[in-house]
Amino acid sequence: MNDNQNNPEVIANWLVNNLAEQLEIEPAEIDRCEPIENYGLDSAQGMIVVSRAEKQFGWEISPMLLWHYPTIQALSERLAKENDPDTQTKHTAEINLAEQVVLDPVIVPQGTFEFTHQPKRIFLTGATGFLGVYLLQELLERTNADIYCLVRAFDRTSATERLKSNLERYSLWNKAIASRIIPVVGDLSQPMLGIDADIYENLVGAIDIIYHSAAMLNYVYPYSTLKAANVLGTQEVLRLACLGKTKPVHYVSSVAVFENAVYAGKVVSEQDSFDHWQGISLGYSQTKWVAEKLVKIAGERGLPISIYRPPLIAGDSKTGVSNTDDFICLMLKGCIQMGSFPDLDYLLDMSPVDYVSQSIVYLSQQRESIGQAFHLQHPQPVQLSKIVRLLRLVGYKIATVPYQQWQADLKNTVQPDNPLFTLQPFLLEKRSEVQLTIIELYLQQNRPEISCKNTLMALKGSGISCPPINHKLLINYFRSFLDSGFLQAA
Ligand SMILES: NC(=O)c1ccc[n+]([C@@H]2O[C@H](COP(=O)([O-])OP(=O)(O)OC[C@H]3O[C@@H](n4cnc5c(N)ncnc54)[C@H](OP(=O)(O)O)[C@@H]3O)[C@@H](O)[C@H]2O)c1
Repeated sequence: MNDNQNNPEVIANWLVNNLAEQLEIEPAEIDRCEPIENYGLDSAQGMIVVSRAEKQFGWEISPMLLWHYPTIQALSERLAKENDPDTQTKHTAEINLAEQVVLDPVIVPQGTFEFTHQPKRIFLTGATGFLGVYLLQELLERTNADIYCLVRAFDRTSATERLKSNLERYSLWNKAIASRIIPVVGDLSQPMLGIDADIYENLVGAIDIIYHSAAMLNYVYPYSTLKAANVLGTQEVLRLACLGKTKPVHYVSSVAVFENAVYAGKVVSEQDSFDHWQGISLGYSQTKWVAEKLVKIAGERGLPISIYRPPLIAGDSKTGVSNTDDFICLMLKGCIQMGSFPDLDYLLDMSPVDYVSQSIVYLSQQRESIGQAFHLQHPQPVQLSKIVRLLRLVGYKIATVPYQQWQADLKNTVQPDNPLFTLQPFLLEKRSEVQLTIIELYLQQNRPEISCKNTLMALKGSGISCPPINHKLLINYFRSFLDSGFLQAA
């Protein structure tokens, strides 16, 4: 231990110099009170600063601190307390999520509501994302409506371009129906969704139904960073729904709302309440819990709402195309690069994106779905070990190692070219009162069994079924990973 460890000034100077070196700028250009992310530091560069700081100061630093204390000023003050037993603080102050559940009292449906199978104008959020683009495609196919898509963009032209390139990315672009896609420039995190006032006014009177899929999916950011988009954004969606004509809201939530030890080992059904929030450790999951509560309150105030809770969303079962930026894909690629998977009793809780999107659109078209929640869980999930076996069959040399060893390898041997390098904070952080890593928290014994019985009943007769997670499906995914260059052949 040296004296510098507890001196915030020394730590701040060191951080300024290192950040400047990483970003190839002068130290004088760095403002200690400016959020570090405004300097364009990517996650890999952030991890390099963290591991150098560990060597310099001699203690282990939770990389999560970078997100919880976003400026050099705040971070260095917090780091100075790292070794001080009297002032040892938790990395994250526990937020009382129940107190966050406050829906603006003016959000009450103003008009009457009549259910229709054939809406003329649909408002969709998240169409530049993974599930959202599949919802867009499904809505284009299953309705004759124009689809107004909220898009973060500089102007309408670039919004159109973003939607088109996302449809192309998943091989869903169809010029013949493209004229029914209407971009709406905006931002969930802004009042009135950041939409120009005259356009907003028009939407208030014109839109018949809303599908809200957008959210910031980030597993390392704290609640405070994600709140604007995920919680306040949902409030803004509910506001739009209630103004003028009453518009039913179909909200994409997550099974994460049940991420609490209280539900571990229990069967949770679609209509079960989810009042326990203590112990939900990811900021992202916390926002999904609060946001769904807001949607429920709007429902109690008379807004027609339906809630859809997907598990992890996997690639398209037919084309195999996946969102290679998501957790499943990065974990898979990272473990292949490491040459090992942790030996864990882990049930892979994933449903193909086409099953999720088709189910949402079909269920949203049933009058009986109003006021209901649905679980888009895979009815027959598989063990992680099944995926590992398949990887070996296709030629990858993969060991299965004890979890402690895998963690040590992740910390000590993984290099910045491995996608798990930037996920280290997410994977290694010990969370909750029980001090488990996220992987341990997601082990079978620590999770509820999510029942999808009512959802399967509601889908009966629709012709929609969840493709089994078998060789055929996994080979489809792998073929697409190889074709796109995401994975190299074994
Ligand atoms: N993926 C999963 O495994 C999973 C599992 C359970 C639940 N879900 C839920 O499913 C929904 C869709 O997830 P996904 O996998 O499709 O996520 P995604 O691919 O990351 O897409 C997120 C979408 O939200 C948009 N968005 C984020 N912040 C925004 C803002 N401030 N203003 C406007 N749009 C914003 C993004 O727009 P930009 O393109 O501009 O960033 C993008 O279109 C989310 O609600 C998520 O919570 C996902």
